[in-house]
Amino acid sequence: MNKIKPIKQIYSNYSAEDFKVWELLYLKQFNLLRGIVSQAFLNGLDLLDFNSSKIPDFIDINKKLKKLTSWQIKTVSNIAEPVYFFSCLAKKQFTSTCWLRTIKEIDYLEEPDMFHDVFGHIPLLSNHTYSDFFQKIGELSLEFIDDDFKIKQLQRLYWFTIEFGLVKNQDTFDIYGAGIISSEKEIKNVYSENSIKKPFNLSEILKQDFIIDKVQPIYFFIDSFDQLLDSLAEIRKLINSKS
Ligand SMILES: [Fe+2]
Repeated sequence: MNKIKPIKQIYSNYSAEDFKVWELLYLKQFNLLRGIVSQAFLNGLDLLDFNSSKIPDFIDINKKLKKLTSWQIKTVSNIAEPVYFFSCLAKKQFTSTCWLRTIKEIDYLEEPDMFHDVFGHIPLLSNHTYSDFFQKIGELSLEFIDDDFKIKQLQRLYWFTIEFGLVKNQDTFDIYGAGIISSEKEIKNVYSENSIKKPFNLSEILKQDFIIDKVQPIYFFIDSFDQLLDSLAEIRKLINSKS
């Protein structure tokens, strides 16, 4: 396992440009998401007092999350490698960057910054069912820690739920995946005819490779967050059967 150096968010280091970037991205994504994002995500924004004019302060968020679901942000300098990332989830710790892209990079970014990590992921950590599932993925990873093939399958599960998941809402879908929530291109792609939307199917997801440098060609939709939690025994069984 790579050694990851924990770092601290130093709030006074944020520049006027950082605040502008946060505001522009927040307003753009919030408007795009109107009416098509999971209500649990919107509740999370309210519960954690997210808004466009203030870059979230991790000390403040951690205090609020502690009371809600006991999750905490663990600040890292860059994207954490999978085994470390998953093992933190088991302890209800979400690894997050604390730096923001520049104005020049506003529409394209090679690796996740705190807009993705914080705006995309953190609001749903306030939801008990969702965050219980998130933690359980971490616990499963500890069982599979020495088996790259099993970890790969867990990454696929993570990808098609936490990052790019949809949840059914009557005749349409709401977005709950952080990779869609934080990306204008993904929001447009997910409702276009260019992408396939399929019902949540574990056997398929565990076999499905994913791409990281283009918009997603395929998304899976769940009925509710309960479906994720209820599928944990089957996830373990399926992954263990493929060793
Ligand atoms: Fe992410």
